Amino acid sequence: MYQLNTNYDKLPGSYLFAAIAKKIAAYQKEHPAADVIRLGIGDVTRPLAPAVVAAMHRAVDEMADAATFRGYGPEQGYDFLRDAIIRGEYTSRGVEIDRDEIFVSDGSKCDVANIQELFSPECSFAIGDPVYPVYLDSNVMAGRTGELLADGRFARVTYLPATEENRFSPALPAEPVDLIYLCSPNNPTGTALTRQELAVWIEYARKTGAVILYDSAYSAYIAEPDCPGSIYELPGAKEVAIEFKSFSKTAGFTGVRCAFTVVPKALAGGKLNAMWNRRQCTKFNGVNYVVQRAAEAVYGEAGRQEIRRTIGYYMENARIIREGLSSAGFTVYGGVNAPYLWWSLTKNVKSFDFFDRLLNVCQVVGTPGSGFGPHGEGFFRLTAFGNREQTSEAVERIKRNAGQLLG
Ligand code: MLT
Repeated sequence: MYQLNTNYDKLPGSYLFAAIAKKIAAYQKEHPAADVIRLGIGDVTRPLAPAVVAAMHRAVDEMADAATFRGYGPEQGYDFLRDAIIRGEYTSRGVEIDRDEIFVSDGSKCDVANIQELFSPECSFAIGDPVYPVYLDSNVMAGRTGELLADGRFARVTYLPATEENRFSPALPAEPVDLIYLCSPNNPTGTALTRQELAVWIEYARKTGAVILYDSAYSAYIAEPDCPGSIYELPGAKEVAIEFKSFSKTAGFTGVRCAFTVVPKALAGGKLNAMWNRRQCTKFNGVNYVVQRAAEAVYGEAGRQEIRRTIGYYMENARIIREGLSSAGFTVYGGVNAPYLWWSLTKNVKSFDFFDRLLNVCQVVGTPGSGFGPHGEGFFRLTAFGNREQTSEAVERIKRNAGQLLG
């Protein structure tokens, strides 16, 4: 008789964003005429850049011609894209990365979830609190945690509180851990680590023999020069860190699917690079050719300019939300180096209750902070990825109803 993976039983009902989608659907069923504005899940709304679309059209034409048609591609990604990534992301930052250290994939969500397969089930790990839920859930599924405790934490997990007091930059763990998930710019807090803060983590990992799993999916949004766009800008990082980057938020690829992971050969004497290569060759058949040509166009002259304009559009949304909510008397973090706003609720308002309140009073959807971890309680995340009109309208509704929301 087969046995199921009972680690799944440890997880709460459903994945955060699936649970939120269900709540919105229920509200809309009850209020079919309601004009609901969705600033919940971080999904982009602007169309693909014209240079990207043109590259896709050209690639589709190639696929329509027997002379240029392509079947299976390399599991690690086509050389043309890996070379464009090296030039666009690393050489431009003064970082040397080899082509065989880059693995193109269909999304950072999959990569950050799958990477833990390379490590023993005995490995301990640390995550921020609050945190992008995939790091934790994937480790729960793999059996690297104990049960969910009454305080909302899992046993055998080191939580690193990111709070207003520490400027959402967690302190080092009290006890050594094997794996450390860092996300900068951070989802959900919208804040970014400075060079100095990141250097502390690299030094710690080098000293203790830990590996840093560095999720940098939002690096294109960094505006402050003090916040590095890649962990490899810091000396010594290649010996301790794996980096994840994505075209989803950089270039509107949430529905197109393309990302990449850098596994340096300097890490674990090249062993992790070889293992990830083995894993990808066994379990993944590569990203489709048309999408990889689209991703390559992101680094072209026209692509770069068009994408900067789209990022500027979202960051203007972020400014509108930040300034609008601040003027209504709320405290808001983030939105400077990231497209997320981390809204501090008044004391004793539970973030899931606030979700209902905001939906009922303003017909605006956000994401409850406690969905990202116990230290997310008392906070609420808004995304800047909406369209301008709806974002401005959401802020106006919040301002108009600030008294009721605060109460
Ligand atoms: C989010 O809203 O946190 C993101 O959309 C999730 C993701 O990128 O998978």
